[in-house]
Amino acid sequence: KILVLDFGSQTTQLIARRVREARVYCEIHPCTMPPDEIKAYGARGIILSGGPASCYEPGAPSVDPAIFELGVPVLGICYGMQILTHLLGGKVARGAKREYGPAKLNIQRQAGPFRECGLDEPQPVWMSHGDRIEKMPQGFETLAVTANSPVAAMGDPERRIYGVQFHPEVAHTHGGAAMLAAFVLGDCGCDPIWTMHNFAEATIADFKERLGGQKVICALSGGVDSSVVALLLHKAIGKDLTSIFVDNGVLRAGEVAEVAGLFRDVFGLNLVVVDAADLFLDRLKGITDPEEKRRIIGHTFIEVFDAEAAKIAGEVQYLAQGTLYPDVIESVSFKGPSAVIKSHHNVGGLPEKMKLKLVEPLRELFKDECREVGRELGLPETIVSRQPFPGPGLAIRIMGEVTRPRLATLREADAIVQEEMRASDLYTKVWQSFAVLVPVKTVGVMGDERTYEDVVALRIVDSVDAMTADWSRVPYEILARLSSRIINEVKGVNRVVLDISSKPPSTIEWE
Ligand code: XMP
Repeated sequence: KILVLDFGSQTTQLIARRVREARVYCEIHPCTMPPDEIKAYGARGIILSGGPASCYEPGAPSVDPAIFELGVPVLGICYGMQILTHLLGGKVARGAKREYGPAKLNIQRQAGPFRECGLDEPQPVWMSHGDRIEKMPQGFETLAVTANSPVAAMGDPERRIYGVQFHPEVAHTHGGAAMLAAFVLGDCGCDPIWTMHNFAEATIADFKERLGGQKVICALSGGVDSSVVALLLHKAIGKDLTSIFVDNGVLRAGEVAEVAGLFRDVFGLNLVVVDAADLFLDRLKGITDPEEKRRIIGHTFIEVFDAEAAKIAGEVQYLAQGTLYPDVIESVSFKGPSAVIKSHHNVGGLPEKMKLKLVEPLRELFKDECREVGRELGLPETIVSRQPFPGPGLAIRIMGEVTRPRLATLREADAIVQEEMRASDLYTKVWQSFAVLVPVKTVGVMGDERTYEDVVALRIVDSVDAMTADWSRVPYEILARLSSRIINEVKGVNRVVLDISSKPPSTIEWE
């Protein structure tokens, strides 16, 4: 395994993803990880990420130089390269000008990340730095150059310590994945055994041993994460897992039947479907504030789930959750937690209240990897590639009060959006695509009649992690079909508009 030490770069997670694509397991830890923990971790190689600081400034993040004495290969990327230069006795200075964007790399020595990776030259790479290496540490030589960086990459092949000024983890560096693979498979000597097939087998075997004979519950939402969690556990402990699916009244059209049909009838899960729609909708009556909607739905969910869990025969010891690796990194990362803009609910608060231990089988996985496990387990593509759907469901896509008639309207419009997006194969290309019901009526004309009806907005966005997003440039023909179908087929809607805002400053959801 490989250890990635984070200095606060926006792209640290991409480093880890590229390493894992080379089928090598790796974890991200803050650069402040204590040296004894680093040693105990036993990585075959260490990668130092980029970061926004300048290493000669007071208080700049650093790493214990003891890492260079562990005898394992080290690769510094951007700030990581500068900090290792600084620590090993070289000199880093402010560059005459910032270098940002694409550059052409000429490789001078096939070592470290450039070993036998057969790259085209000059190789397009992505630069983003203000500082540069003025003097390399002793024992280092230049491995590659660009027009503006006489030391675009350097290394001490003897000690197997390398630095690259550009970002191999981003897609703009064409051969970047090959470079990282060359480092982890070549110098570090890792075996390429991190596959989702192996992961699924190992996790199921581990659960059989650890959880055998004990009772586990999980909340199934129909999303890919909770579906994968439920299937992994089902394969390990069968009927000792109880999955609970709560119909909160703000789900999409046909969702309850789809989930029940698949998990109960096809996969044979021990599944409890709770119809709590009336309870949720009663409590949402008259509520228009988005955070209040979220709070009510979150609390009611816990209450309903709790009551169901209490009915299960035999004592339940575990609650299974679909926490993914990015959530784990968020909570330990060097940057500190980012500000909460909207409160997002999972099954928060439940474990302490019910004195349950947590099982989080996806804690080590990125979303792509979770999807891959889903495929390994035989989940259909409709679930594996499903777009994210918020816990508070359609309630935060109906501006103003959530009523049954408004839900029915939005459900119909939403079903058309899903259907058309899937039919055009854009569904998996965009991040999310959905309809929003606007609290505004506008005038229209149908036949000879004047109408005064609802407006539906289309929200279709591209994103990689939901932190930022841009509106998708959907072909006009598809927009035309969506508009015409919604207006013709959904009663009470006479106008469709397109949301062309990016995040920030807007958000993906309207509430
Ligand atoms: P925003 O609207 O903040 O959304 O740009 C970012 C991502 O989070 C989803 N989202 C939620 N998910 N509970 C959830 O489980 C929520 O309250 C919630 N609000 C937003 C949203 O769909 C998008 O993927």
